[in-house]
Amino acid sequence: MCGIVGYVGKSNAVPILLEGLSALEYRGYDSAGICVMKNGTPTTIKEKGRLSDLKQAIAATPAISSALGIGHTRWATHGAPSAHNAHPHSSENDFYTVVHNGIIENYISLKEMLLEQGVRFQSETDTEVIAHLLNHNHTGNPMETIFKTIRQLEGSYALGIICKAEPDTLYAIRCESPLIVGKCSHGTLLASDITALLPHTSQAYLLENHQLCVMNERDFFVYSEEQEQITPTPFPVDWTVESAQKQGYDHFMLKEIYEQATAVKQTVQCRLFEEGICFNELPQSNQWLMGFRSIQIAACGSAYHVALLGKDMLETYVRLPVSAEIASEYRYRNTLTNPQTLFIAISQSGETADTLAALRKAKKNGACCVAICNVMGSSLAREADYVLYTYAGPEISVATTKAYSAQLALLYLLTLSFSHRLGHLGQEEWEEILEQLKALPKQISRVIADTPRWVSYAEQFHNAKQFFFLGRGMDCFTGMEGALKLKEISYLPAESYPAGELKHGPISLIEEGTPVIVLSTDKRLFPKVLSNLREVQSRGAQVLLITNYPIGETDIAGEVYLLPDLHPLLMPSVSVLPLQAIAYHIAKVRGCDIDKPRNLAKSVTVE
Ligand code: AGP
Repeated sequence: MCGIVGYVGKSNAVPILLEGLSALEYRGYDSAGICVMKNGTPTTIKEKGRLSDLKQAIAATPAISSALGIGHTRWATHGAPSAHNAHPHSSENDFYTVVHNGIIENYISLKEMLLEQGVRFQSETDTEVIAHLLNHNHTGNPMETIFKTIRQLEGSYALGIICKAEPDTLYAIRCESPLIVGKCSHGTLLASDITALLPHTSQAYLLENHQLCVMNERDFFVYSEEQEQITPTPFPVDWTVESAQKQGYDHFMLKEIYEQATAVKQTVQCRLFEEGICFNELPQSNQWLMGFRSIQIAACGSAYHVALLGKDMLETYVRLPVSAEIASEYRYRNTLTNPQTLFIAISQSGETADTLAALRKAKKNGACCVAICNVMGSSLAREADYVLYTYAGPEISVATTKAYSAQLALLYLLTLSFSHRLGHLGQEEWEEILEQLKALPKQISRVIADTPRWVSYAEQFHNAKQFFFLGRGMDCFTGMEGALKLKEISYLPAESYPAGELKHGPISLIEEGTPVIVLSTDKRLFPKVLSNLREVQSRGAQVLLITNYPIGETDIAGEVYLLPDLHPLLMPSVSVLPLQAIAYHIAKVRGCDIDKPRNLAKSVTVE
């Protein structure tokens, strides 16, 4: 996902732009660049690779200092990662210079039109088309030109724009991809997400689609498409820079693993009261709830694993048919979504393109749409009928941990609230689960405290050819999350299978020394899981059993890790923790780039 920064003010823009881009590195990128305006002339420096490469290029350039500039980190979509495809992009006479996040879906036809006008292109990007189109459309007034140009664009964009005609002004406009504007004591700032503004401001304004922001060194002004000025309502920025920094941990991922108890507590406590659970964000009438005949939960990646767990718990306690949908599949499938469907979209970033598209499709089909997001004001949050925020705080590591746990906890609350309101949950079980829910953060902390114990397991298996995760019911879905964590940060093959499924083919992959992690947290199924464990052990597997069942290592001739014995509904919150720790330590022993794994981005804002 690309990152955008912009500054206009009394200070030198270059260090401010670079500081902002480094705060956005976590989003994943493959090239970076800045453009600064000096005496009416734009100077652009851009490089393939990391920010350190860009800084070297800037250091090699005669000292450029300027009061106005834009910067960008690019995650390639159109055109390979390279310096010439890096942003910013300028029109032929450098009259307009642009940085862009998103995808222009009709850029080819626009490019053909511009080529017929004799325009020469330097890159394969859709973004360069915008720069030339602005120049082509220039009316003498950049604001008019920008509005005229965006009417020709199809797709998503967040744009930072500078124009030679107004060298002291920075322009910003968006459609779908987010843009945030802030003021500080020495100027105004633009960014594609809040972390880049944190060091400078405690107030920020989230641009709405098609609103144009005009920024100068003193203030910023917002205009509608009809060019009417809008009074922006800033929102408080309550994340400190420190909360988005590592705080002494080796990696953001480890910090975020340790933050999970707090993330769950912050997500739960604002909805858990003496008398029970209350979602003030949702309609309180039972009539609203009783109007639903089915529930669909759509998400991607780890959030999809939460969706699978949500399906299991909602069907068990709310007694409605629930489907867990991979968003990229849902958006093209003949779904049965209708006005009696409750559609839940889960997304940490709230900007995942497939999840956003799934929500839009569900809305079009008349469903009531609820978003579960961790980023305030994100696209998903703003497009849903209702939004339930997780309060996990900024999650920087590409591999999600605390947001996953917070999403899970929020689904517990939703399940229990709906079940109790519909009369499916007995008072005794209701009180038992509520008590355990209140104590869940402590139980999570207890298991996380064992994180260092997985170093020896990592040292033993960090070169394994492949890993298997086995479990039944919810344990299989938790195993899917463990397998994904391992794959995405250590690059080792890992798969999770329903324990009873292995003998239908995959068991042929088991060989001497294959590490198999067996999860068993539903005591009813333990004997079945134990026999599956023995099946793989008899073929040479090295077994680690993670369970709440009282069994010793001598009983299974393998390693056993005993979890706290919680209500079955809450077990996924603790059984996932050793899997996160194992993935982290294996990746660390292997020397992988844990927070920014190869080929991955924190939020996948393109299809
Ligand atoms: C999880 O560790 C991965 N980074 C990835 O699967 C992620 O969960 C997925 O891309 C969904 O992201 P979202 O929650 O921001 O929508």
